[in-house]
Amino acid sequence: MINKRLYSNIALSILSILVLSFPIYLLIKTKSSFNNTSTEAEFVGRETCKECHTKEYADYIGSHHDKAMEEANDSTVLGNFNNQELISKGLTHRMYKRNGLFYVFTDGDDGQMKEFEIKYTFGFTPLQQYLVEFDKGRLQTLALTWNTLEKKWYHMADEIYKNQIVNHNNWLHWTNQAQNWNSMCADCHSTNLVKGYDLEKDEYHTTYSEIDVSCEACHGPGSEHMKWSKQQNNPTDKKNNYGLIVKTSGINNKQYVDNCVRCHSRRTALTDFTHASTSIYDHVIPNLPDEPNWHIDGQIKEEDYVYGSFTQSKMYMKDVQCNDCHNVHSGKLLYTDNRLCLQCHQSETYDTPKHHFHKEKGAQGEAVISDSNIRFEVGSGTECINCHMHGQLYMGVDYRRDHSFRIPRPDLSITNGTPNACTQCHAQKSNQWAAEKVESWFGKSKRFQYGEAFYAAKNKNNAAINQLKNISNNELYPPTIRALAIQNLGNFFPNSITTDIDGYLGNANPTLRLAAAMTIQINSVEDLNKLLPLLKDETKAIRIESVRILSTLNKDLIPSEYKANYDKAYLEYFEVLRYNADFPIGKFNLANAYYNK
Ligand code: HEC
Ligand code: HEC
Ligand code: HEC
Ligand code: HEC
Ligand code: HEC
Ligand code: HEC
Ligand code: HEC
Ligand code: HEC
Repeated sequence: MINKRLYSNIALSILSILVLSFPIYLLIKTKSSFNNTSTEAEFVGRETCKECHTKEYADYIGSHHDKAMEEANDSTVLGNFNNQELISKGLTHRMYKRNGLFYVFTDGDDGQMKEFEIKYTFGFTPLQQYLVEFDKGRLQTLALTWNTLEKKWYHMADEIYKNQIVNHNNWLHWTNQAQNWNSMCADCHSTNLVKGYDLEKDEYHTTYSEIDVSCEACHGPGSEHMKWSKQQNNPTDKKNNYGLIVKTSGINNKQYVDNCVRCHSRRTALTDFTHASTSIYDHVIPNLPDEPNWHIDGQIKEEDYVYGSFTQSKMYMKDVQCNDCHNVHSGKLLYTDNRLCLQCHQSETYDTPKHHFHKEKGAQGEAVISDSNIRFEVGSGTECINCHMHGQLYMGVDYRRDHSFRIPRPDLSITNGTPNACTQCHAQKSNQWAAEKVESWFGKSKRFQYGEAFYAAKNKNNAAINQLKNISNNELYPPTIRALAIQNLGNFFPNSITTDIDGYLGNANPTLRLAAAMTIQINSVEDLNKLLPLLKDETKAIRIESVRILSTLNKDLIPSEYKANYDKAYLEYFEVLRYNADFPIGKFNLANAYYNK
């Protein structure tokens, strides 16, 4: 057993784990789709690509990626600035134009009503937001938002924080950190973003090569490719990927999806992104699809984007990827009806009342009003995505669909309190009603859903132990779900599982390694010895997680053969803390780390 001296700082460090803890959670493999040869390549801009790639360029122009952020002018601003007013929680906000510039009159950082000039647009449809310049290089996102579908203004706080007054002292107020573009939004909406936070001066020098999500956000800096393409005879040079850093052809679907993860996931960023990195775990840690941000069975709840959902699906495990449904350049769907799914699923089996039991469009019947207050007409009950990809409104008006492609389970809603597509649509009906209908159509479901195990675990039901072990050991389950099973074992049954979990510390899949590392609590020299090898892990996320845990101990306990690795990982850990120190919580964690040091 380790003696007490070891724990001199433990109280504080536990606090830091609870409070910050980068959700040092997991992610997915990362056999890199990046090829790290040409780190010196430079960004050249989309106009350079146009001449040779007319089709991709034409598809891309006008896409949401293209419109992710723009300088405010008459062609980019969608909102009505013709002397408009919006009354919200007792304040009258005004939107207007003067000399060709766009302004709002709204509550500022001292609570006083003031004029602010709009510099940038953010987003395109179904909503558009606006950015205002502040001191110290900051841009802030206005709460006054334009609904592009209904063409009207709304106040974001009214939609999202319905029961709270968000005044200028609240961190959610548009002038405060939660709505700060540099730290909260920028790296997903622009190309080659460098946050440039200066900790000592508490100011930003944020830069990007292109304002929106452009060609090189996905393909990487193009200068080497330009050189290659100008060579005489243009030898087909697949081996060096034509001078491109990122591979987008000849890769498997896991690698494909990894190319989107840094922006399409709920995650913690460890550093600015660089295309030369070989693992997603070197720059982000996507959250596992767990409570409180997801429902306990992995259905979407908070703003989860797509990755955590898609990577738990059977389709992801069976090699389906984004471009099976989306044109990645235009962002549009390949088909906007059931043909999208019938590319792979048999129409005779599924596109029939024998499967969906609903009436076709045009038949007699009554529309249904859903839990999001959306009216679904007769016929909508025959659409695959309405049952297998139900959605939810975000930011007030943005209906986003769950990419976990699951089977609706009203029976599990009754036992585990999770939602299901049937009663999300039939908001007036009970789960009991839906469960009985489904049972009458298909018989009682015998399918095991992993949410059942997570629910049992959180209720400390011992039956969960074997279920969780089966999930974590079964390679047919997605890595994120196996990782969640490991963490549930570690969190809820710490005494029964150590040996099972230890086996994952050396697993080839970093998602599982990281999950296992996170369950370790140091109670003995044995525990210490398990963590030490992870100081040399090939991914930054795991190195810093192990050093974070080890740094709560007295440094003398680190064996000399690990000291160099420890010091190196420790520096990396500090870099990550400094990178995130623009958040109040980040400063707190940095302070804790200094204290432990
Ligand atoms: C002077 C012409 C030229 C320009 C300019 C150009 N490319 Fe290419 N690009 C090519 C050629 C030729 C190929 C190889 C096509 C083939 O063999 O199918 C190619 C292939 C590609 C591929 C496919 C790689 C693969 O794995 O199949 C991508 C992606 C690409 N270019 C992106 C870009 C981007 C992004 C830009 C702008 C930064 C750009 N290109 C500018 C000529 C050009
Ligand atoms: C640099 C960040 C970034 C990367 C990388 C990225 N996206 Fe996006 N994506 C965005 C943002 C931001 C939006 C929303 C833009 C908006 O509406 O303002 C978006 C929107 C989309 C949409 C919705 C388009 C629509 O019409 O509604 C699709 C589909 C999409 N992305 C697919 C992908 C795929 C597939 C990949 C990987 C191959 C990818 N994206 C990579 C940032 C990114
Ligand atoms: C993790 C990456 C990420 C971050 C951080 C991020 N966004 Fe986005 N944003 C996206 C993606 C991806 C979409 C596409 C919609 C989706 O995923 O359904 C999007 C869409 C949008 C849209 C357009 C709505 C739409 O669907 O067309 C707006 C407006 C927006 N984001 C504003 C913001 C603001 C403001 C912030 C910061 C407070 C922010 N975003 C932070 C990735 C991000
Ligand atoms: C959101 C990420 C993203 C953006 C932005 C993007 N691409 Fe692509 N591109 C991809 C992916 C992923 C592929 C792989 C094929 C696919 O998904 O259709 C691809 C494929 C290509 C190809 C090869 C096409 C083929 O059929 O072999 C070219 C060329 C290309 N992109 C050029 C461009 C150019 C030029 C731009 C900007 C105008 C651009 N891309 C913007 C992700 C992106
Ligand atoms: C590129 C091929 C492809 C496309 C397109 C596709 N699927 Fe699938 N789907 C699969 C494969 C493969 C499986 C796994 C089958 C298996 O393992 O039994 C699957 C499984 C499913 C499942 C069963 C999930 C479970 O947990 O048992 C559902 C539901 C589903 N798909 C719905 C859809 C819907 C809805 C669409 C259209 C939006 C769609 N699929 C489009 C290939 C596809
Ligand atoms: C009204 C809701 C509803 C609609 C619409 C619907 N499904 Fe389903 N689907 C279900 C239910 C419920 C199950 C589970 C059936 C069971 O337990 O055997 C299911 C199961 C599935 C499965 C898994 C089959 C298996 O045995 O693993 C696939 C694949 C699937 N559906 C595809 C589709 C496709 C493709 C469409 C559109 C053509 C579609 N579904 C439309 C409700 C629906
Ligand atoms: C099996 C088909 C399918 C696959 C695979 C798929 N999507 Fe989608 N996606 C859809 C459908 C259907 C919509 C809903 C479009 C709508 O509501 O108009 C959608 C919507 C989106 C949106 C818009 C906002 C939202 O959340 O509804 C984004 C962003 C997106 N997908 C990104 C991705 C990314 C990234 C991948 C790969 C990791 C991916 N999709 C894979 C079918 C698919
Ligand atoms: C897109 C929203 C939507 C979803 C999801 C949906 N339904 Fe429906 N449902 C409708 C609409 C619209 C009607 C009325 C037209 C009809 O009968 O098809 C309806 C009708 C019905 C009816 C017959 C009328 C009644 O009220 O008795 C039953 C039963 C039913 N749905 C059960 C289900 C079950 C069970 C599920 C889940 C497997 C489900 N629905 C999913 C929209 C939906």
